[in-house]
Amino acid sequence: MNLVDRFERKHDYLRISVTDRCNLLCHYCVPNGSHDCTSFHRLLTDDEIINIVQVGADLGIKKICITGGEPLVRKGLPQLIGKLKQIDGIEDIALTTNGVFLAKYAHELKKAGLNRMNISLDTLNEEKYTRITRNGKLQNVLEGIQAAIEYNFQPIKLNVVLLKDYNVDEIETFLRWTMKENVQIRFIEYMPIGDQQSEWSNQYQSLSIVEDVARTIGDYVEHKRQQMAGPARVYSFQNAKGSFGLIHPISNEFCTSCNRLRLTADGHLKSCLFWESEVPVKQIAYDKDELIEAYKRALFLKPKNHEMGQSLYQQGTPTTRVMSAIGG
Ligand code: 5AD
Repeated sequence: MNLVDRFERKHDYLRISVTDRCNLLCHYCVPNGSHDCTSFHRLLTDDEIINIVQVGADLGIKKICITGGEPLVRKGLPQLIGKLKQIDGIEDIALTTNGVFLAKYAHELKKAGLNRMNISLDTLNEEKYTRITRNGKLQNVLEGIQAAIEYNFQPIKLNVVLLKDYNVDEIETFLRWTMKENVQIRFIEYMPIGDQQSEWSNQYQSLSIVEDVARTIGDYVEHKRQQMAGPARVYSFQNAKGSFGLIHPISNEFCTSCNRLRLTADGHLKSCLFWESEVPVKQIAYDKDELIEAYKRALFLKPKNHEMGQSLYQQGTPTTRVMSAIGG
């Protein structure tokens, strides 16, 4: 059986938030500076996650991304990844992390079979980094990135959420980094998730500006789009070691190729990060038939597209969950 929704989109990718806690509190991710984290007994356990993924894999899920909050604050994450990797049908596991604890865990994660790494890094300026994360130290992330390079994770993607008054002046520095290091800088448009409309209107910056800057640096070519590649368009400069990607959730058609489902840390299947509809699965995590129905229901609830940035909504009600509770 395949996970195909009402709009003929095939789903083979599951993003799993393993905790909604984070050691950082980035403004665009946790707009109010705090949010109610799920208490320990309401989080999905390792065994529950494994069962839910096993059923998903039977239905056609091939690729997983572990997200949070910050996934590395969950105890025993490398062991969980090791077990997920052994599930029949799961071909590829990625981790989205803020990178702060990576220097400590990169080796264990490699041994567990983790394939790919996405690290959030919105600035290369120490003072700005501390400001946006509300307490982080840039040096920790840079050491984490070095560890990821050392342990040869391929590819290493660095997520840069573009914010108008904050990091537009660093686009050139980020782009030039791809010349000398085998990393992929992924510029992401700021999304209004979980009730942050006014901040979003002030800080949203379309990614067309990245291409304007790239043209001043040199010639670049677009990579051929790969299967299961997701929404990024990827480019590289001539003779560059790395590449850069553009993720336009707002300014480009983004939903037509969506192949993702999401599992929240408190056990809900979500088929779109923007809308509130979700299907609870913690109570049925050991019931295969019920889980199959839950996957089908989540797909049935998936609207044609998000309506980010609009003032009147036509297909439903937006989620009140903040991004750190969904996992990006
Ligand atoms: N808009 C765009 N990207 C976001 N992320 C978190 N919140 C937002 C937002 N409001 C990014 C993080 C992380 C990825 C999972 O999602 O920076 O890299």
